[in-house]
Amino acid sequence: DKANYRHFMAKEICEQPDVVGRTLAHYVDMRTERVALPIKLPFDFSNVRRVTITACGTASYAGAIAKYWFERLAHIPVDVDIASEFRYREAPLRKGDLALFISQSGETADTLAALRYAKERGAHTVSVVNVPTSTIARESETVLPTLAGPEIGVASTKAFTCQLMALAALAVAAGTERGEISVSEERKLVSALIEVPRLMGAALASEPQIEKLARYVAKARDVLYLGRGTSYPLALEGALKLKEISYIHAEGYAAGELKHGPIALIDENMPVVVIAPFDGVFEKTVSNMQEVVARGGKIILITDAKGAAESAIEPVATVLLPDMAPTFAPIVYSVPIQLLAYHAAVIMGTDVDQPRNLAKSVTVE
Ligand code: M6R
Repeated sequence: DKANYRHFMAKEICEQPDVVGRTLAHYVDMRTERVALPIKLPFDFSNVRRVTITACGTASYAGAIAKYWFERLAHIPVDVDIASEFRYREAPLRKGDLALFISQSGETADTLAALRYAKERGAHTVSVVNVPTSTIARESETVLPTLAGPEIGVASTKAFTCQLMALAALAVAAGTERGEISVSEERKLVSALIEVPRLMGAALASEPQIEKLARYVAKARDVLYLGRGTSYPLALEGALKLKEISYIHAEGYAAGELKHGPIALIDENMPVVVIAPFDGVFEKTVSNMQEVVARGGKIILITDAKGAAESAIEPVATVLLPDMAPTFAPIVYSVPIQLLAYHAAVIMGTDVDQPRNLAKSVTVE
């Protein structure tokens, strides 16, 4: 039931501090501040040479964010692919490789086919799924659950951030097992994860401001989302969310790709949503923002206090999020991205929870 919310999507966005916290508690020991996976993995990360992550839609963007984590924290090379491509590409997989699948429903036809392909080739299969009784959960060697609870809105919100939480814990576990991070670094990372639910709660407080910004976005024909590092897949997710529920055309790009093409689109009618926590690539994103402003583009900047102070541009609006460890910022930055799409859709008068042409679970290819 929708409780007092107008749409399931609004309810599911607001539930995130709770359900992400619940997922966190399933993956870490709050007392020792160390990762404690709910199940023993049938392999040692020290022996894993390569990880392939396969999923569709929003789940694939969770995988694309996790790639940065696995590579940075555990130094394991990661390939991320959408399942409809992976399953037909004849991707070479070797015995002992780790094939990771991500799915809210656990019933997505292409993801299931990719899982079966990986199993046939002797890879270890691990699935991050929200529906524990699903086919993907049943057929995987190891299941890592997300504890988002039933997600009713077609647009995935809480399942996505719970996937990120489970994947973050897994990447930290991989880093520790491979000796790439020390126990004290592990504790630091886990304590940053423990902060996430509270920070998501604080991010929800941006809703009144985002609602106003949505009025501006809803007037646009096209919207561009930009980010670097882990904010890049989040830019793709922001664009997907806006398209699927408001029917406004949107594109997500790596900010560094701007001058390789999409900059030609920029004019004074084009809102550009820039996702930029003050992290190691922030300054690089600033130069991309300057390129946008120089061409009359209108920037909505989602950042923190430091980022706002250092941005050296005049955005049309700045959405300020609390300071946090940048590694796990995408989990928190998802919140304003979801709210923006939600309010734009409400203004457009679309069927937010059941957008046209879409099904919650895509069980045919
Ligand atoms: O159930 P799954 O996570 O496997 O679904 C994957 C995609 O179909 C899904 O994330 C889709 O992209 C959502 N509608 C996005 O909001």
